[in-house]
Amino acid sequence: MLHIPHSRPTFSQSFQDAVQAIVVSGQLAQGETTKTLEHDIKPLLNLNNVLAIDSGTSALMLAIRALTNNKIGARIGISTYACASLLFAVKAAGATPVFMDCTVDLTLDAEQAHNTAKTLDVLVLVHPFGMVEPLVTDVFPCPVIEDIAQSAGATLHDKPVGSFTDVCIGSHYATKPWGGAYGGFIASQNSGYIHTCQTMINPDSANLSSEYVGHHQLSNIHAALATQRLQSAQEDSKRRQHWAQKYDVLLANTTATPIQSCADSSSNAFRYIVRCEQDAGQVIANFRQLGIAANRPVQQCLHHSQPNLSCPQAEQAWQSCVSIPLLADMNDAEWALMQQGIQTCFHS
Ligand SMILES: Cc1ncc(COP(=O)(O)O)c(C=O)c1O
Repeated sequence: MLHIPHSRPTFSQSFQDAVQAIVVSGQLAQGETTKTLEHDIKPLLNLNNVLAIDSGTSALMLAIRALTNNKIGARIGISTYACASLLFAVKAAGATPVFMDCTVDLTLDAEQAHNTAKTLDVLVLVHPFGMVEPLVTDVFPCPVIEDIAQSAGATLHDKPVGSFTDVCIGSHYATKPWGGAYGGFIASQNSGYIHTCQTMINPDSANLSSEYVGHHQLSNIHAALATQRLQSAQEDSKRRQHWAQKYDVLLANTTATPIQSCADSSSNAFRYIVRCEQDAGQVIANFRQLGIAANRPVQQCLHHSQPNLSCPQAEQAWQSCVSIPLLADMNDAEWALMQQGIQTCFHS
């Protein structure tokens, strides 16, 4: 049976050539290609300082360490309706997660975020699923990290996400909009934060009295793949937008509602998320029976890591939201199957 995966990054010949050139050069670990990647990210975010890192999770962990001066138990605000990497990055920084609920459009509840921020050392604002978190333009009493792992390339008021707050982190994981194989980055207008992160990514050159240092450099091989992706990311996003518009039309005749990015923003169409009246688990099972790998947008709500916490909107989102494949290079047979899936699985 035809199988439509949830994600399918495409790799042109230029990816193979770039990797081959690194192997031939013999310089596989960190080097000039890593620097090229950092250089290429700067104009995309309008930020002067970028540091390539081995993963988005490490990038978030290091950014939290830099902003809290390695404070043990620092209180870090994160959305509960987000990737589990956030929780583990906070823990790896020796900090304490403080969970915040979402709204029906999967961004943060503004009132709760502002109230919680009064008690935080750092607030993490995730731009979710290719869309935009509008709170990045608000003023908070603590430093703010923008997480653009899923939304790199999206904009708010015509400015790139990642350029609004103190520090930005992103991911080059294979399926991400700026994905290669593995990798991540930290970016900021503040060179001091980036310098502090730099002192934590190479044990060989570290001060032995440092609180934390790990091998977090990005290799030339991984940087070569991510650099290639940056060149095609905008075109990939346009192709996903094309399919997203077709999905919008099909969904207008069903009981399901697509989640839209906030006002005056443009999404990168990384994911296509639908809120449905039926149980999300059943809808996903129905899609899968047709050979379409629908998924939950997040596998679990992060506040479940602690007892007795209540985040009702996130629970509701977990029960009712489904992410359906949005592939840049969908072929005719796959499009026909997607039409069938959307029409049958979203009717009650
Ligand atoms: C929003 C978000 N932040 C951070 C990460 C971590 O990135 P990485 O997989 O590169 O560690 C992810 C990964 O899924 C993510 O979705």
